Amino acid sequence: MNKFKITGVTAREILDCRWNPTVQVDVWVNGEILGRADVPAGRSTGGHEAAELRDKGKRYQGQGVRKAVKNVGDILGPAVIGMDVTDQRKIDEKLRQMDGTKDKSKLGANAIIGVSLAAARAASLAVELPLYRYINCNAHILPVPLFNIINGGKLTSNDLDFQEFCIFPIGAATFSESLEIGNAVYNELRKIVIKKYGKLAANTGDEGGFATPIVKVHEAMDCMVQAVDRSGYEKKIVYGLDCAATHLYDPKTEKYTLEGNKMMTGELLDYYKALIKKYPIKTIEDPFSEDDEEGFLRATKELGIQIIGDDFFCTNPDRIRERAPKGAANALLWKFNQIGTLSEALDAAELSYRNSFGIMVSERSGETEDPIIADLVVGINAGQIKTGSGVRGERTSKYNRLLQIEAELGSQARYGGMDFRAAF
Ligand code: PGA
Ligand code: ZN
Repeated sequence: MNKFKITGVTAREILDCRWNPTVQVDVWVNGEILGRADVPAGRSTGGHEAAELRDKGKRYQGQGVRKAVKNVGDILGPAVIGMDVTDQRKIDEKLRQMDGTKDKSKLGANAIIGVSLAAARAASLAVELPLYRYINCNAHILPVPLFNIINGGKLTSNDLDFQEFCIFPIGAATFSESLEIGNAVYNELRKIVIKKYGKLAANTGDEGGFATPIVKVHEAMDCMVQAVDRSGYEKKIVYGLDCAATHLYDPKTEKYTLEGNKMMTGELLDYYKALIKKYPIKTIEDPFSEDDEEGFLRATKELGIQIIGDDFFCTNPDRIRERAPKGAANALLWKFNQIGTLSEALDAAELSYRNSFGIMVSERSGETEDPIIADLVVGINAGQIKTGSGVRGERTSKYNRLLQIEAELGSQARYGGMDFRAAF
């Protein structure tokens, strides 16, 4: 007999932080326990992600999710009713079967991941454990946050080609100290950009970093370095970039465009070599386009830093299985809605660990206040998180949940993981 029986599944359309609709799902257990989850959405998406279902038409510029909501109510919900909510893998398998497509385009990956996550949350409530502990009884690692403090690319309205310029406070002693460090640098950076570019330059982009009218990568890096120096925390910080190079690449000419210059893979690699010689950049996400395997292989071999695959892997176990053993990248950007169920995302994490990869758990640029990635990053002991700057409620909800977890874990909490600092 199922002890924790799913007795109801409902969904509704809610808003994300860009005033776009998204899916929220409720999963009821034994008619009295409610697990709820919101589905985030990307803008700088990879071509190999599981497919969201959007309504098209006039409403919300076609972005409505009423069809996805209906699919939860009419098809996915009824399929899992009666199942034991703690049986996550079976639930996810059932959801996949109901859809039947490889990219979850029939019923919508946004509908499917919503049910999957709400079930996990309901299960954790049913067994009376915090979600991170429900996922893993050995969960104890608080992540090092990669703070995205200057925004470019698709996440803002300036002409900076790289998408995210980040500080990575690997030298903090605790997660809470990392937030103090981020705050100090962010405030110094605000003063610097206002002085250099005027007060409009301190407006922020989708992930809370400054949307400064800088066009040159070196200029953005110089501003960050200056802010870090003035903060007095330079010994505790290294730097990171998300180049999101899929969006710099033209498959027709097979060239990247950076600051107006057309570059082949090798030339862009040389550019990175010079850049990391000048600045202590220790982690780069998507330095090459999603299908430029050669670029990833060479970057991993020749740059000697963390090379993260975002669009390159799309949190897809098949893509990781094929590419990771070759040495293309050495870390995974983990976004559950790129693949569409929690158990497949956990499989992606497992495969990454088996290949000695690092994992960085990530928000999407279109988030809600749901802090679920905070529990998940601790649950998989990933040790790294990317969830924007410490501003705007959809970002602070994650940081605040991590502060709660840090307090709950008390002396068991470990920042970054056993040999995290050595890895950088
Ligand atoms: P997205 O992008 O959430 O808009 O897809 C963020 C990223 O590229 O990491
Ligand atoms: Zn990315």
